Amino acid sequence: MLSPTVQSLLDRMSIEDKAGQMTQVTINLILEEDSNTEVHKEKLREAIVFKRVGSILNVKNHAYDLPTWDSILGQIHQITQETPYQVPILFGIDSIHGAGYTQNATMFPHNIGMGASRNDELVKRAAEITALETRASGIRWNFDPVLDVGRQPLWSRFEETFGEDTYICGKMGSAAIKGYEGDDLASEKNVASCMKHYLGYSHPISGKDRTPAYIPEIQLRELFLPPFEAAVEAGSSTIMINSGEINGVPVHASSYLLTKVLREELGFEGLAVTDWEDIVRLHTRHKVASTPKEAVKIAVNAGIDMSMTPFDYDFTGYLIELVKEGEVSEERLNEAVGRILTLKEQLGLFKSPGLEPEARANFGLGSYKQEALEAARQSMTLLKNQDATLPLDGPLAGYPRILLAGPAANNLSSLHGSWSFTWQGHEPEHYPQSTQTIKDALVEKLGQDQVICQSEEEWESPQNYTLPHEGQYDVVVLCLGENSYAESPGSINDLMLDPRQIQLAQEAYLTQKPVILVLCQGRPRIIRPIEESASAILQAYRPSSQGAKAIVETLFGDNNPGGVLPFSYPKWSGDIMPYDHKFADTIQEPEPNVYFYEGYSPQYPFGHGLSYTSFEYSDLRITQGPQDQLNVVVTVKNTGTKDGSKVVELYSRDHFASITPAVRKLRRYERVFLKVGEWIEVQFEMGAKDLSFINSELKRVTEPGDFDLMVGDLVQSIRYSG
Ligand code: BGC
Repeated sequence: MLSPTVQSLLDRMSIEDKAGQMTQVTINLILEEDSNTEVHKEKLREAIVFKRVGSILNVKNHAYDLPTWDSILGQIHQITQETPYQVPILFGIDSIHGAGYTQNATMFPHNIGMGASRNDELVKRAAEITALETRASGIRWNFDPVLDVGRQPLWSRFEETFGEDTYICGKMGSAAIKGYEGDDLASEKNVASCMKHYLGYSHPISGKDRTPAYIPEIQLRELFLPPFEAAVEAGSSTIMINSGEINGVPVHASSYLLTKVLREELGFEGLAVTDWEDIVRLHTRHKVASTPKEAVKIAVNAGIDMSMTPFDYDFTGYLIELVKEGEVSEERLNEAVGRILTLKEQLGLFKSPGLEPEARANFGLGSYKQEALEAARQSMTLLKNQDATLPLDGPLAGYPRILLAGPAANNLSSLHGSWSFTWQGHEPEHYPQSTQTIKDALVEKLGQDQVICQSEEEWESPQNYTLPHEGQYDVVVLCLGENSYAESPGSINDLMLDPRQIQLAQEAYLTQKPVILVLCQGRPRIIRPIEESASAILQAYRPSSQGAKAIVETLFGDNNPGGVLPFSYPKWSGDIMPYDHKFADTIQEPEPNVYFYEGYSPQYPFGHGLSYTSFEYSDLRITQGPQDQLNVVVTVKNTGTKDGSKVVELYSRDHFASITPAVRKLRRYERVFLKVGEWIEVQFEMGAKDLSFINSELKRVTEPGDFDLMVGDLVQSIRYSG
């Protein structure tokens, strides 16, 4: 049911108006050729008055300051007054880990680090602040959260995922959606979310961005669809479609996925937008449409509501022709435009389309920094700590003198990754002046004299790949990993860490001092050749604005690390195996007819993460509640000498099933903070559905039988009798 406002608009709109509403163009199209920020009046008039576009997105080249946003959005708003119905423009942006297209916004760890925190509340809070700063910029639609499941570590957007586990992606994605949307989209605190990229984007067979995926439907439904189901339930308003193809069918052309599964099965009622230029690519790239016009027909009939064209109006023109020729029905247009106008209405755009002073007041509050710091702290994952190398000594024993080296030591982009003030994130001049590199934070902590460092901001600088050869020091901290990248420019052919960095580490080991590796990276680059000789390894992911401080705090024990890996850290590029693999995945026949299970042997397993304290589980018990409810309780105690947090994870194992079961599946998690000696009972509620899987008829079922429920080394078995 459409609201009276939306219905009355629809009744009055022409086909041209409707096709315009369904068109989204990038901001370049309304700006002066030689300026990143100056609006070209005639181009703007063409977009809005003549072409009647419904939506604009993006920045040109880099983040804007608030006055620039005011000026651009103000002019856009102004010109809508010249259109017959003054329909406001829906502006969309990528605030992926903070409002990164507004200068001085607060940046949070990328999802991969948030996944390590195992703290849904933290994800929600980061999304709330991102919503506040996005809306304060005048923008009410955010193309986030990413719900792609990170099961292909080569993929350049791995850092945007919450990791390899389907359940975590769904839970954290839902938390983000609640953070973005709140209870009321009209509120100056909220923005519309956009779950993306539906579906199967994260699993290209080659590992390269936007290349084909081959995912049998049983796996699509088992591994990749559930986060979207959860997100629909959490109330996400919009969805963006995967640019790629699955089993030879581009998702933008799949009425099965876009209409049957998304609308009829999942019951999604919101707006479906394409990804960048993806309709014409049905013709130019995927070759399922013989002309650009046929591409429009296929995509709109499949269920697309809005086309991110984004550089021209061809889509609009073809769509008008197709409706007039009877190739696309006007009902389909009404359905799409009904959704677009409904969202505009929900966002309060009809009532107050202009600048919202109350929203502006929410930009850049001092407390955000503290919250970004807390998020970065909680993401820190200590992979190795031989002989308690970390934490480094503090006041009583005196601080050590540090040799700090490596390309990530004095570099902002590797701390932030993609979508950070520019798309690729590697233009330091656009970062807030106050953002610290690891070197800055270390010098702040220890003083200039205690830190020897020759690293430079420029990732490729030769200085970053050699050790300074003078001075006395006690310990070497090597900051390694990856420079920032986004999408296809981040595609790689080899998961192995850059050979220059391997060599640098090997050189560092020759110093005979303890060597600590700090990894700033968006995906798990293989470190096998240098792992064994490292005294300690801290995985920092892309911790962003406050990341340097969180790293230094962790090195010195001011933050006790509690993050755990949201993916299996591979040891070999030819052995990419998720934790929830099948039993037969590890089978080995070293000699003819001699079989054994070699086991899952990554460099570090999923869920791995050390602490400066120790924890003990005890007393795992299960009680049966009403119907199929299970109440699982476990006691966890801090048995060490430091306060700290522990991620408690509950796994299940299905003994036998009609489809080969995974060796284990994560079913619940909770992060608890415990002081020294403190203990707590952690309770998890679960039902039969939590033990389900997709069967050969593509139905979700829980088959009767025996299951193990596991926390740490504790196991309890239950029987489900159906
Ligand atoms: C990306 C999307 C993004 C869109 C708009 C595309 O290239 O795949 O994730 O939302 O651009 O910037």
